Amino acid sequence: MKIFMTGGTGFVGSHLTEKLVGSGHSVTLLTRSVRAGKRLPAGAEFLEGDPVKAGPWQEKVLEHDAVINLAGASIFTVWTAKNRQMILDSRVLTTRNIVDALADASGRNIALISGSAVGYYGGRKDDMVLNEQSPPGNDFLTEVSLNWEGEAHRAENFGVRVVITRFGIVLGKGGGAFEKMLPAFKKCLGSSLGSGKQWFSWIHLEDLCNIIAFLLERNIAGPFNCTAPHPVTNKELTHTLADVLGCPVFMPPVPGFMLKALLGEFGDVVLKGQRVVPRRLLDEGFQFQFATLREALEDLTVK
Ligand SMILES: NC(=O)c1ccc[n+]([C@@H]2O[C@H](COP(=O)([O-])OP(=O)(O)OC[C@H]3O[C@@H](n4cnc5c(N)ncnc54)[C@H](OP(=O)(O)O)[C@@H]3O)[C@@H](O)[C@H]2O)c1
Repeated sequence: MKIFMTGGTGFVGSHLTEKLVGSGHSVTLLTRSVRAGKRLPAGAEFLEGDPVKAGPWQEKVLEHDAVINLAGASIFTVWTAKNRQMILDSRVLTTRNIVDALADASGRNIALISGSAVGYYGGRKDDMVLNEQSPPGNDFLTEVSLNWEGEAHRAENFGVRVVITRFGIVLGKGGGAFEKMLPAFKKCLGSSLGSGKQWFSWIHLEDLCNIIAFLLERNIAGPFNCTAPHPVTNKELTHTLADVLGCPVFMPPVPGFMLKALLGEFGDVVLKGQRVVPRRLLDEGFQFQFATLREALEDLTVK
């Protein structure tokens, strides 16, 4: 399959690209720059262009059988007005430009696998189990996800099969949340955040890449929660990681007010969560390699 990808130089995209290339697909990565020193996944072709802006890169999209759309500025930052706009634009405008490029896709049997996140369901403090039928939340990340998904759905008008992937927190080596947590936990300085009761819906990077390959190959559409079947609370995450590393939790929980003072509105994201389950993937028979957090963390902490 010929695949066009945005965000393919990132933590998820680079691993996914290498996996897809390894299984015989050809992948074209749209990147804002291929400057020397940037870590680029092996085996892909690179196309320079800014996905946020319309440009000549759009003419290449229809030369492919599928588009995987993962571009997005990091949300792990202080949410100033400027950063919020960048978080939104880097997803919504990218998706708009991709979909505009698919306008002549009719009769071509093209698939668009487009990113989203469990933030769709909003930051919550309850224990409600959320599946793809659950309603959206009511905060900034919900607004981002709704707009991001809304742009992708426009491609259905052009006969494109649109799949929305609502990622949980991706746990993998070499980036993301796991790399941020590991140094403190290795020094036995890990602790839970706030009450520790907030839910943490996670996915092992390997399973996430297998899910995307699974969604590419099946004739299914619509939203899919890309999370492991067993989400955990923040307290369970803390104690499982400490246990797997053999470092007991000595530190008291980080008070919520401190996180909010340090991180502003983003602090709220780590103090709230969502208990998300991959209902549709389970119904479709997807087999998770890492269904429990302990299995995932044991794999990720093997040297
Ligand atoms: N990692 C997670 O835990 C997680 C959880 C939920 C959802 N997601 C979503 O999944 C996607 C991939 O995540 P990731 O962790 O792989 O992200 P990442 O490592 O930060 O990579 C993001 C990619 O987006 C592009 N990008 C960054 N800033 C941009 C901007 N301002 N305008 C246009 N493109 C920009 C970059 O491509 P170039 O620099 O090559 O142009 C980069 O390859 C993101 O959309 C993220 O929101 C991730």
